[in-house]
Amino acid sequence: MPEATDRGMVPTLNNKGFMSTSLDPVSTAFTIYAGQSDGLSLDLGCAYGIASLTALERGARIVACDMDPGHIQVLLSKTSPDLQGQLSGIVAEMPKIAFQPNSFAAILCSRALHFLIGDHVSETIAAMADWLEPGGKVFLIADTPYTGFWARGAADYEKRKAAGDLWPGFIPDVTVYLPDQARTKAQLRHLNPMDPDILARACKEAGLIVEHADFSGRPDQPDSKTHAGVIAAKAG
Ligand SMILES: C[S@@+](CC[C@H](N)C(=O)[O-])C[C@H]1O[C@@H](n2cnc3c(N)ncnc32)[C@H](O)[C@@H]1O
Repeated sequence: MPEATDRGMVPTLNNKGFMSTSLDPVSTAFTIYAGQSDGLSLDLGCAYGIASLTALERGARIVACDMDPGHIQVLLSKTSPDLQGQLSGIVAEMPKIAFQPNSFAAILCSRALHFLIGDHVSETIAAMADWLEPGGKVFLIADTPYTGFWARGAADYEKRKAAGDLWPGFIPDVTVYLPDQARTKAQLRHLNPMDPDILARACKEAGLIVEHADFSGRPDQPDSKTHAGVIAAKAG
């Protein structure tokens, strides 16, 4: 695993941002809920598995899934032998992922949905609703339009949201916000940051019952609006 930055952020192997080495409140809620559950729980877009490892220590049985096989290898190698029986790793890419209906008690997707176009966010959350057991919960965190270089576009985002744009944070080409255009060659062009309202709407459209929807900050800036967090349940 690469070294963490001073702020505790570890670069991913596939230029899909950084894994945080500390957990935000919604991810922490997932680890507690999954740890207390008898069923299987899914960590989707797990990177090197910061949330999976904490949930395993709390007694959870985890399916850890990421599009990059290197991330899953690191997670498996970091898992202590006594917890390995509670963990399986899967390489797959949203939205082309299929699990059996009613197979998870809890699903975490932390800071990965904003890499998808809007239709794929909706498709993925609808699939999550199908994969959840009745009464099960999704724990979703997305980067918001108030973080990163694209925070400069936050005022435009608010105008598009007020005008009824379904995905007002969608940035077709992030290079317009980056200082060094050359750095973007290996990076994704688009990004879809979203606020708690947008994430909650996608959950409601998938038939889930929203229990919590709010902003949360990075661990070192807890009061800022860098992340949107939603917890939503499937009817029991
Ligand atoms: C910014 S990191 C977040 C890691 C960790 N969940 C966290 O909250 O710190 C995004 C992770 O999501 C994964 N990811 C991005 N798009 C994905 C997709 N379409 N399907 C599966 N995994 C994806 C990346 O490989 C990366 O490991």
